Amino acid sequence: MDLADIIRDLGALETSTLAAISAAPDTPALDGIDVEVLGKKGALTGILRGIGALAADDRPRVGAVANTVRGAIEAALAARRAELGAAELTERLARERIDVTLPGRPLRRGSLHPSIEAMTQIAEIFEQFGFVVHESPEIEDDLTNFQMLNIPPDHPARDLWDTLYVDIPGHLLRTHTSPGQIRVMQAMKPPIRALLPGRCFRYESVDASHGFEFFQVEGLMVDEGVTLADMKGLLDEFARAMFGDGKKTRFRPGYYPFTEPSVAFDVECLVCGGPGCPACGRSGWMTILGAGMVHPVVLQYGGLDPERYQGFAFGMGPERISMLKHGITDLRLFMENDVRFLEPFR
Ligand code: DAH
Repeated sequence: MDLADIIRDLGALETSTLAAISAAPDTPALDGIDVEVLGKKGALTGILRGIGALAADDRPRVGAVANTVRGAIEAALAARRAELGAAELTERLARERIDVTLPGRPLRRGSLHPSIEAMTQIAEIFEQFGFVVHESPEIEDDLTNFQMLNIPPDHPARDLWDTLYVDIPGHLLRTHTSPGQIRVMQAMKPPIRALLPGRCFRYESVDASHGFEFFQVEGLMVDEGVTLADMKGLLDEFARAMFGDGKKTRFRPGYYPFTEPSVAFDVECLVCGGPGCPACGRSGWMTILGAGMVHPVVLQYGGLDPERYQGFAFGMGPERISMLKHGITDLRLFMENDVRFLEPFR
């Protein structure tokens, strides 16, 4: 090949390539031409391979022509690329057009389980009274669940708490959150204002008002000079915050081994407001918690001197409170987790 051949080939390559570029239908086609012509193993390089056979004086001329051809092809590629790019963008925008006026797909919102909702509200109220939430274990020992709460083995009051035992000797599933009182007293010094929400278990046959698994929220306040009047004031205030202003409340004598005196705390029936209805057993009242002044023996087991410290404690069922507030009549609904029951709480 001589100089003239090479220059002619370069010219021919330019012509055919420019034609191919203007005919290219899309950017992938342009990419193909780019590689075929300008690539490392492309047509332009192929022609320039012949340069070695030329006289040294001719080589720069071929180089200059080759550069012009390369420049022309590159410019044509760029121009066509811009042209096709704009068209493709327009087409893509049309294809991917989003109708912002269409309604969105609704996200299904989760919600708190009504037991948790009630416990959260209870905790929020008592936090305002300076109570701090603590946890205590679901697997307890007999000592803490019973004996240190002034319920010795064979005490008839054990019948109040039918117990599920576990495989570890001396251990059980706590039947109430009251053992948390002992743990809090052993762990900290007065003044104590503790709230202990948690799951409890009893060996019960399940019916509309009994579950073998349910929640309780325990409260404990211990300090010097705490009186029954402090307890009454606080629980009345709690009922007001929980059920609204102006509801009547009352304290009745009760019995728990770990408090002396012990009381039951009632709020006027939220369904009938007093005269009596099926929901309140025609009494006009609903019991929301048990409470009392912490028994001196219990303070002692907690490591506190009953001559110096007094306290009160209370225990309530969040499911029961939720039932009163929402007019729910069957406790079993709380643990069955049927979404149709949970749905209205969203
Ligand atoms: N632990 C009791 C129960 O499960 C409820 C209770 C009553 C807790 C009186 C207390 C209390 O702290 O003072 O029935």
